Amino acid sequence: MAKFFKILPIIIALLYAGYKYVDTYVLPSLFIFDPKVLGQIVTDAVATSGDNSTILFRTINSALRKEYGDHVNELNFDDWMFNNAGGAMGSMFIQHASITEYLIFFGTAIGTEGHTGVHTANDYFYILKGEQWVHELGNPDPVVYGPGSVHVLERGTSQQYSMPTTCWALELAQGWIPPMLPFGFADALSSTLDIETIYRTVYFTGKAMIESLLRGKV
Ligand SMILES: *[C@@H]1O[C@H](CO)[C@@H](O)[C@H](O)[C@H]1NC(C)=O
Repeated sequence: MAKFFKILPIIIALLYAGYKYVDTYVLPSLFIFDPKVLGQIVTDAVATSGDNSTILFRTINSALRKEYGDHVNELNFDDWMFNNAGGAMGSMFIQHASITEYLIFFGTAIGTEGHTGVHTANDYFYILKGEQWVHELGNPDPVVYGPGSVHVLERGTSQQYSMPTTCWALELAQGWIPPMLPFGFADALSSTLDIETIYRTVYFTGKAMIESLLRGKV
């Protein structure tokens, strides 16, 4: 036992080095979505599809499926679900979910406000319609993102955000997705107790992750 405690620091150092290696070199190689390509798809759609959210969703989902095939689920309007997280409420449609990435439509028809959460993935929030307002710590003025622009929230950081009224976004997260899930369920488990929404979130997230794994996408 005494011997075990002697080598414990070495075991911890090796585990940490292993994690650092995977996190730095393996993780990025598992990503399939290119934030630049997504930015171009969004800019084009905003320029051509104007102000109609439904048409924006359809245009962007088709362009994404053209680029990434079956890694992106075909859009429909039955498989949406509400999402309560960080005090904010909106709804979402899961286009892709795997261990290292997710790609969703997220937003609200009427506005919301809350905490972004502190995540284990980088988050790219491409505004399609309306505005997202962001409060950065130490900056007393709001930073405003409008259609065609992207708000990047780096992993490990947090902000306050609002969507003052109707706002829709394409959201890409790249990093470790499973540790983000508790944030996505905390408000439902501690506040809303909306079983139907919890069920739909578990069902559609699980389904997308398993389908990704079966496609060989981690
Ligand atoms: C947006 O387009 C859809 C599909 O063409 C249509 O059903 C809907 O009424 C439009 N919404 C608005 C606000 O014009």
